[in-house]
Amino acid sequence: MAPVDPHSFTDSAHPLTTHVALSLYFDFPSSTIHAAALLTLAAPCSGQLSLDARSLAIHGVLDPQTLAPLSFTLSPPDAVKGSLLSVALDSHASVLVLYSTSPDSSALQWLSPPQTFNKTHPFVYTQCQSIHARSVFPCQDTPAARICYSAKLNVPRELSAVMSARHAGRRDPVAGDVSEGFKKGGSAAGLNLESLWCGDRRVVEEFVMEQPIPPYLFAFAVGELGFREVGPRTRVYSENVAGVLDSAASEFAGTEEMIRQGEKLFGEYPWERFDLLVLPPSFPYGGMENPRMVFLTPTVIKGDASGAQVVAHELAHSWTGNLITNINNEHFWLNEGFTTYAERRIVEVVQGEERAILSMGIGWRGLNEEMERFKDNMEFTKLKTNQEGIDPDNVYSQVPYEKGFQFLARIERQIGRSAFDEFTKKYIENFKFKSIDTETFLEFLKANVPGIEKEVDLKLWTEGTGIPPDAYEPVSDLYTKIVSLANEFKLGKIPGEDEVATWQGQEWELYLENLPKCVEASQVLALDARYRMSESKDYEVKVAFLQMAISSKCRDYYPEVEKTLKEVGRMKYLRPLYTALVQGSGNEEEKILAKRLFAEARECYHPIAQGVVESILAKNL
Ligand code: BES
Ligand code: ZN
Repeated sequence: MAPVDPHSFTDSAHPLTTHVALSLYFDFPSSTIHAAALLTLAAPCSGQLSLDARSLAIHGVLDPQTLAPLSFTLSPPDAVKGSLLSVALDSHASVLVLYSTSPDSSALQWLSPPQTFNKTHPFVYTQCQSIHARSVFPCQDTPAARICYSAKLNVPRELSAVMSARHAGRRDPVAGDVSEGFKKGGSAAGLNLESLWCGDRRVVEEFVMEQPIPPYLFAFAVGELGFREVGPRTRVYSENVAGVLDSAASEFAGTEEMIRQGEKLFGEYPWERFDLLVLPPSFPYGGMENPRMVFLTPTVIKGDASGAQVVAHELAHSWTGNLITNINNEHFWLNEGFTTYAERRIVEVVQGEERAILSMGIGWRGLNEEMERFKDNMEFTKLKTNQEGIDPDNVYSQVPYEKGFQFLARIERQIGRSAFDEFTKKYIENFKFKSIDTETFLEFLKANVPGIEKEVDLKLWTEGTGIPPDAYEPVSDLYTKIVSLANEFKLGKIPGEDEVATWQGQEWELYLENLPKCVEASQVLALDARYRMSESKDYEVKVAFLQMAISSKCRDYYPEVEKTLKEVGRMKYLRPLYTALVQGSGNEEEKILAKRLFAEARECYHPIAQGVVESILAKNL
């Protein structure tokens, strides 16, 4: 009995699941899914099999061959891991679990029509990373395991579904879809599943994922969807609203070019399709690299270079993360640090070196700020972290991204770009479809770059706290100019129109990120009077500005803060705004405001974002 992952009940002594077949009946009025999951194991297993589950009502576990019930227990939930579903097996190589999800399943956001763009149809989507797949189906929810899957989604006829898988068809439901076991599970829950499944105005969407993926990459979305073709292997999907589809299609028109550049750098694109799905504004991340179907926030659609950068990032995960995966979240930097490096290499080719440097500069600033955030908890300034008992959503930060990027860029500086490119290609080829840890990476590095450990302090980089002395602040004329203008703001200088004439969102973001967090309220007003950042359509700019306004107690902007917190659910914006409101002392009014806003906006946030805001408030109120 040894756990393989601090965030999972998966036991190293048990065979891993290799395939999951799902039947999912979507009941929008009750925000639940009635489901059957057929799990196939790599080998027959006897004794107690440990599965992860969260907020699932288990109606029965059966031997899929004989339909004999298997005895099981479901533990009370652990705050981080959820429940242990333990099933008694006797040489079984598969199990059938009948269950329903609950309306507060942490991976699922159920949107009522008013919470969508089209206002007429409901919508539901998943966000499984890092440890929420277990709230959609019982599984060994660790990236150490890789599964193939098939899925039948039974949804109202006016809706359609997409998944991180190949679409195998859309057809009428038939009684044969509902296996005897599934029927049994339904009756245990007091449901006649066969009649529901074959009900009026229902349709079945089928999907198959033949390439093994870690469970956190399982994904679906169901809604009234439309799409535009933007490339030979890329469609952009979103709710079927012409304005959203058209602006998304033009924003992401350059995607194929990025895929080609990615292939040049990292090898052939391995997932066949690279489709994009633009979600409603409550999507909690900028992007999520679900294979074959990247999920994106609509806030990236703003007509400048940065939307494409998010796509470059999620695309880069196709190699680093989805193909080579961190064995558990303690090695998350292997996913995100490598991807941030790869993203900037793609950006450098398609948008030019200056754009890549600005993005590094914003990252550098972000990394330095995280050192401040974690000054009392330096563990999370390491690349390799100890996450025993830790909820990964609560310690999500720029560190794995930007310190990971810095580490790889440091190795590249040491050995030169062409040697590093050769190493990267070999690394990907060697570990594709595997899940690895930091040590495995370091061993491979030392074996392929002899002597590297004498040149770069690998232990300090991967196990040390803080920013190593040989990290690198980027340099370019534009970057340096922006940082020096930001420094002059402390002396009362606001940049002149001629100095900012060519600035896009990223330049402003970098400028704002380099200003002091707290200044005179009059300075905040003067800056905004000149450049109207509080009304920017670019949330990076607007939020960075509002964060400074809150910290400077410039209360004129609180209505705008309220509006922002009620219209988007991306955690990158929620975190700094709620934190600025509640952190510190002498801000009783702000604390009351934060509580009220969260009470009013909560419903509109994804459950993961709800949890993160709750933890920010709990820490500070
Ligand atoms: N995989 C992440 C999102 C994620 C991380 C979800 C951890 C859940 C847990 C994704 O690739 C990502 O990093 N998104 C960034 C975009 C970016 C750095 C351009 C985001 O959402 O801001
Ligand atoms: Zn990422």
